Amino acid sequence: MQGSGSSRTPALEVRDLSRIYGTGDIAVRALRGVSFHVASGDMVCIMGKSGSGKSTLLRQLGLLDAPSSGQVLLDGVDVTRLRESHRRVLRLEHLGYVFQEYALLPELTAEENVYLPSLMSGTPLRQARLQARELLAMLDLENRAGHRPSELSGGQQQRVAIARALINRPAVLFADEPTGNLDTESSERVMTALTRMNDELGVTVLFVSHDSDDQRFAKSLIVLRDGEIVSDVDR
Ligand SMILES: Nc1ncnc2c1ncn2[C@@H]1O[C@H](COP(=O)(O)OP(=O)(O)OP(=O)(O)O)[C@@H](O)[C@H]1O
Ligand SMILES: [Mg+2]
Repeated sequence: MQGSGSSRTPALEVRDLSRIYGTGDIAVRALRGVSFHVASGDMVCIMGKSGSGKSTLLRQLGLLDAPSSGQVLLDGVDVTRLRESHRRVLRLEHLGYVFQEYALLPELTAEENVYLPSLMSGTPLRQARLQARELLAMLDLENRAGHRPSELSGGQQQRVAIARALINRPAVLFADEPTGNLDTESSERVMTALTRMNDELGVTVLFVSHDSDDQRFAKSLIVLRDGEIVSDVDR
C-alpha cells in the first residue's frame, strides 16, 4: 500500500467504496466505505472470513460490478463513471482475471485458451500464438500447450488461466481465491507463478485468499471484516 504523502499516482485508488445488495429489509451492506491505495507493482493479499466482502471488493475493482457509492481510480481516472463500452475495453486490454474455477474453454487447447483474448483485441494469430507460447514457457507449461483443460491437473489449468489473464499485458491482475480448489503443492506452484509474474512482468496483483499461508507471497495485506478494512499493512 502507498502512503498518502506519495507524489506518484497509485495504480489503484479506492475512495469510500460501498456496495449494498438488494433494498429495504433484505439489503446487505457487503462493503461499508472502504478506502485504500495500491502502488504500481504491488502484490496485495485480501483476507477475511467468508462473507466479509472479499469477492465483492475484487469485483468492484475489476469493473465486473458497479458500486453503490464511492470511487475506484485506475491511474487517476474514476472508472466507476465511465460508459460500459469504455469499461469493456479496460477489462479486455488493461485488467486480467483469475478465478477459483479456472474458467477455461474445454474445447480449446491450453495455447488457444491463452491467446484468445489477444485475438479479441486485434492481434494477428501468429503474434498471439508466439505471446502465448512465451507465457506458457514462463509458467513451465511449454510441453502442455496442445493439451485440452481436461488433460491437465488443477494446478496446470490454473497456470494456463494465469497465462490467459496476462496475454494482453494488463496493468492489474485480479485473482479471487486462485488456489481455492488446489492441494498444498499445486497451491504453492500457482502462488509462486503469480509472484514471478508480479516480479518479472511488473503486473500489479490483487489476490483473495482464505489461507493465511498465502500471505507470505504478498507485499501488502488487506483484512476485511463485515465489509470494512480492519488491517491494511505494508510488509
Ligand atoms: N449478489 C448478491 N446478492 C445479495 N447478497 C450478496 C450477493 N453477493 C454477495 N452477497 C452478500 O454480501 C456479503 C459479502 O459477500 P462476498 O461474496 O463478497 O464475501 P467473501 O468474503 O468473498 O466470502 P467467501 O470467502 O465465502 O467467498 C455476504 O454477506 C454475501 O451473502
Ligand atoms: Mg468470495
